[in-house]
Amino acid sequence: MAAANTGRVFQFKLVLLGDSAVGKSSLVLRFVRGQFFEYQESTIGAAFLTQTVALNDTTVKFEIWDTAGQERYHSLAPMYYRGAAAAILVYDMTKKSSFEKLQKWVDELKERGPEGIVLCVAANKCDLEEGREVEVAEGAEFAQKSGADFFETSAKNDENVGRIFTTLVTNVQRKSEAARPAGEARLDAAPPKKTSCCG
Ligand code: GTP
Ligand code: MG
Repeated sequence: MAAANTGRVFQFKLVLLGDSAVGKSSLVLRFVRGQFFEYQESTIGAAFLTQTVALNDTTVKFEIWDTAGQERYHSLAPMYYRGAAAAILVYDMTKKSSFEKLQKWVDELKERGPEGIVLCVAANKCDLEEGREVEVAEGAEFAQKSGADFFETSAKNDENVGRIFTTLVTNVQRKSEAARPAGEARLDAAPPKKTSCCG
């Protein structure tokens, strides 16, 4: 079956959600450009970035909406998670309040998000172990309850960053494979999405 996918481009829209300053933009910049900035500016509205990666025999084009975590932008979020195949829910493991906030995102996505959206939880800033406020077990339990994968990440030290993105691709592909009749090629399961007006 893998051979059937040769030459295919899998467009993969995903969104990052979470409190301000947890490191959403930093994770995206690490993944897309291999960069990290100690003084990363807070996002205004949202940022759109793309990255194309060859995974096995597939070309995956990530279309990433990096949302702004400041409360005043919250009402814009549906524009960015609409049509997303996956979401990365980010908290800062040195800030309990950012962890507690994630439940609201899970609830909102369940209520208003795309059906069957694949979730992943990133406990970011794991390089700051001395400042830890959320235990690994707490994060992992929350993720499990939410039906999400769980990774502790560091955008700064490039820990588990690529892994979150590639795991999401695998999970989305698995899900669409499971949903389609046996024997069909898997990657056209997600319908090609039109680029949005601002993309
Ligand atoms: P908003 O755009 O306001 O929603 O914030 P954000 O979630 O995009 O956070 P951002 O990426 O701007 O990071 C906030 C601060 O945390 C910046 O000063 C980053 O340098 C820092 N930061 C991000 N990731 C890490 C990390 O893994 N480790 C450490 N030590 N600092 C990080
Ligand atoms: Mg940001």
